[in-house]
Amino acid sequence: MTRPRIAVLASGGGSNLQALLDHFKQLGDARAGDIVLVASDRPDAGALRRARAANIRAVTIISSFTALGDELDAILERHSIDIIVLAGFLQLVSADITRLYVGRMLNVHPAPLPDFGGSGMYGKRAHRAVLASGVRMSGPTVHFVDEIYDHGAVIAHWPVPVREGDDEQTLAERVLRAEHLLFPRVVQAVAAGDVSLRADGRLSRPFFRDDAALPPFDPALDDATLGRQLDAAHVERATNSESQIPIR
Ligand code: GRF
Repeated sequence: MTRPRIAVLASGGGSNLQALLDHFKQLGDARAGDIVLVASDRPDAGALRRARAANIRAVTIISSFTALGDELDAILERHSIDIIVLAGFLQLVSADITRLYVGRMLNVHPAPLPDFGGSGMYGKRAHRAVLASGVRMSGPTVHFVDEIYDHGAVIAHWPVPVREGDDEQTLAERVLRAEHLLFPRVVQAVAAGDVSLRADGRLSRPFFRDDAALPPFDPALDDATLGRQLDAAHVERATNSESQIPIR
């Protein structure tokens, strides 16, 4: 079976990359894609170290915006990349690439969208904005990427409670735990063609069965239980698991 070839772009520690690697390893032959490349705009990114430790090609790309577009384009082509996963990548990817990869490029954002997204709203800043707003729920959002920051169609969001006395750090840790469980499952679903982007910009089908299918993230539960909640709320397509992603 030919699986879509996935590139992960990451600027930071790469804990989401690690979650993805671990999830695919656990799925074994049932994984719907292969992570073949990790690219970072920071030579010292933990994500690159994690990639090398997993025997995955790790490359550094230059950080200027125009150069990033050209250079990235060449790297993606050289490695025959079918799907791009942004996992904490802080650069805006050029419109040439987002257009080329429409419906094949996804991102995880650590807060609800569109309310807590957009340029400059990353990392601690997103959590700070959530806390300042007084909302009682935050949580990771996974979305398809278009040429505008945090703007593409939302695939999945997991509400994570904001607690009395939370600061940026405590909220970030809770949300990150939810990300690590949600993001790999969404990547798997997109690579499997379970969820795709239609020409009208909407999803082919919702990731979760219905709005009530998934309980809010409960930090008291262990990862295995939370993972089962996600799996129960997401119903895979009943038909074959052959990918609908056009493979080069
Ligand atoms: C995560 O919070 C993610 O939501 C955001 O960047 C962070 C990346 O963390 N897009 P890591 O590098 O995966 O640990």
